[in-house]
Amino acid sequence: MAPRIAVVGSINADLVVQMPKLPGRGETVSSAEPQWYPGGKGANQAVAAARMGGNVSMFGAIGDDEPGEMCIASLKQSNVDISSVAKVLSPTSTALVMVEHSGENQIVVAAGANQHASFDPAQISSADAVIVQFEIPESVIIEVGKATSGIFCVNAAPVRDISDELADLIDVLIVNEIEFAQLGKPNFGLVIVTAGANEVTAYKGGEVVAKTQPPKVEAIDTVGAGDTFVGAFMVAYASGQSIAESLERACAASALSTLKLGAQSGMPTAAEVNQFMQNSSN
Ligand code: RIB
Repeated sequence: MAPRIAVVGSINADLVVQMPKLPGRGETVSSAEPQWYPGGKGANQAVAAARMGGNVSMFGAIGDDEPGEMCIASLKQSNVDISSVAKVLSPTSTALVMVEHSGENQIVVAAGANQHASFDPAQISSADAVIVQFEIPESVIIEVGKATSGIFCVNAAPVRDISDELADLIDVLIVNEIEFAQLGKPNFGLVIVTAGANEVTAYKGGEVVAKTQPPKVEAIDTVGAGDTFVGAFMVAYASGQSIAESLERACAASALSTLKLGAQSGMPTAAEVNQFMQNSSN
């Protein structure tokens, strides 16, 4: 049966601009036509988890505006339950996403409606896994952790300190290698450390319990690749797959997601990941 996944988090409208090279401090660069895409770490992870076969509900907030409608349309299209997404007076949060032709990116987020993200404790408590990220207030994240009876997964991005109160609630922490170092190599629950195209490592009690080398692809846009990893990993792990198996699926999904522009556009379905993994093993 599909695992029930609740994602409490950010919903952003991404204004994506592509350019030959990211600007340096004080530099102005010319870009191609800007394009709007649905994004936000929370919404991205919800879409990724739903496409990978999860039964996903999104908890968050948007403004009463067109960017918010665009974000909701994408969640709906991927069969994410959006009945708990609130419409608030603040505008939908916006991210300026600059993507260099090499695939490198820089992101600035103007927090709007995300600051009003809320959730229903009763719905959270019936989920097999609950995922949060750090684009919503810490107080909300702690309440989510307390209400969770399934697996509580924290994606500590964008990175900020993890309080002792939150650390005590975490079952799975997913970070990239930079966040891992900035957090002082935390050691609570299952810690998964991604490293872009390099090996992903899973630690338990400070010991390495699994490692996976992501498949090589010609990436066009890596925005949302980390979110795809989180969503795909949690669907597999909450379905009872081993840590190693869950890492393999998450790495494959994440690699595939980089082949299209826009955080959610390239996120694969479970069938596409199965096919890709089968082709790679031949
Ligand atoms: O992780 C990628 C996401 O970060 C983008 O979609 C953008 O909205 C920012 O939140």
